[in-house]
Amino acid sequence: MVSMLRTKPIKDVIAQAEDDGGQDAPRRLRRRLGPVDLMGFGVGIVIGTGIFTLTGIEAREHAGPAVIVSFAIAGVVALLAALCYAELASSVPTAGSAYTYAYATMGEIVAWIIGWDLLLEFALGAAVVARGWSGYLAELFGLPTAWFGEEGSVVNLGAIAITLFLGLIATIGIRQSARVTNVLVVVKVAICLFVVIAGLFFVKAANLMPFLPPSRPAEDGESGLAQPLSQALFGLQPSVFGVAGVLTAAAVVFFAYTGFEAVANLGEETRRPGRDLPLGLLATLAVSGVLYVAVSFVLVGMVDYREIDLGAPIASAFSAVGAHWAAVLVSIAAIAGLTSVILVEMVAMGRIGYAMARDGLLPPGVGAIHPRWGTPHRITAVVTVGVALLAGFLPLASLADLVSIGALCAFVIVSIAVPILRRTRPELKRPFRVPFSPVLPVLSALACVYLMTNLSVETWLRFLAWLLLGALIYVGYGRRRNRLAQREQGAEQGR
Ligand code: ALA
Repeated sequence: MVSMLRTKPIKDVIAQAEDDGGQDAPRRLRRRLGPVDLMGFGVGIVIGTGIFTLTGIEAREHAGPAVIVSFAIAGVVALLAALCYAELASSVPTAGSAYTYAYATMGEIVAWIIGWDLLLEFALGAAVVARGWSGYLAELFGLPTAWFGEEGSVVNLGAIAITLFLGLIATIGIRQSARVTNVLVVVKVAICLFVVIAGLFFVKAANLMPFLPPSRPAEDGESGLAQPLSQALFGLQPSVFGVAGVLTAAAVVFFAYTGFEAVANLGEETRRPGRDLPLGLLATLAVSGVLYVAVSFVLVGMVDYREIDLGAPIASAFSAVGAHWAAVLVSIAAIAGLTSVILVEMVAMGRIGYAMARDGLLPPGVGAIHPRWGTPHRITAVVTVGVALLAGFLPLASLADLVSIGALCAFVIVSIAVPILRRTRPELKRPFRVPFSPVLPVLSALACVYLMTNLSVETWLRFLAWLLLGALIYVGYGRRRNRLAQREQGAEQGR
């Protein structure tokens, strides 16, 4: 039991990140990224399916025009968590991010759970988005939905192809990945801005009324496993719209903000991590928060929330007012957006797996760094194949909430880690400090837990099943094979 709670000394974390293993056996990632790259990766992974699909679904089913408020609430919660990430990432820049912070503060079992949880978040996120990507491509070019869509397909070829292609880029190099991501980000942000400005001309005040539709009992689909955990726990009558509807929508649209934390995984590849990691994290949220609120305002302003198209809400809103060209632009932005999300998720998973393998919690061989490319090529290849299989063969749209719960769980741990580390290592150099600690980190943790309770019972059950599977693997493998355990064993034998 005690062994499960052992923590990894911060000095070991920092020493590992600096240990290059010499010319012949490179062990270290290369510091090749600057602030623009970090922002590119951040915005690249954050702006994706969420804004292009969930805005419509949540406006129509839970919040009405007040979905704008849901995006703002979710953005504030994400910002609180990002501040906590910024402090830890700037003081302990490492490839493992939340996994490593948990190892240094809360112990091995929590670290393992978070590492496992992050792999779920990113793998599932990439797979869900890859299927979305395939659907958009089919729509834009009229490809057969049997191979590229959700209907009647056994295998989704588009999802597999894009996953393998982007996995290859992530394997070949971090500079290559940064260049591709930056181009895609410029395309999608430019189009989003354009959409907002063009959409403003079609906004009608009448569509924004009532801004907060009154609460009413949910229809069938919102009861049982589909209802939010909080409603199920407290025996509340399942309802939609009203204030509770806005909060439920905030929990769901939180998905649109997930991923920014991947910036923290680039700590060992950033030239000036102390300055640039906080900058990358916070700028990412600022850009996406402003865009999300603006895009959701334009959507509910253009279309009566009861008539929003659930499949492609933004593109359809423009088609409905006769601006078909804008609908095509939105599809292009969506494809560029989704492509960069998948790519950065691959990059992030490679780093988390690398950090876990370096600690012996995954087989050490999979964490090897390629001598020329400077990437954790094996683990990146493994996750690429895993995601391609997931995306190719499973209809995953309903699993997007699992990505949110995974991210929120990591954010809770990261928020708690801030005050713990301040207490255990007060002297640590902290280039960025969360203001008002411990109040703000505690608030961040509570807000994340609150949003988690607004996710469905079904999502919770799936999440717990995943964690249980992770716990079994830990007991069966990681607990005995990791480096700290082996060091302890060595010390005992030497006595
Ligand atoms: N935040 C990402 C998206 O919205 C995962 O697609």
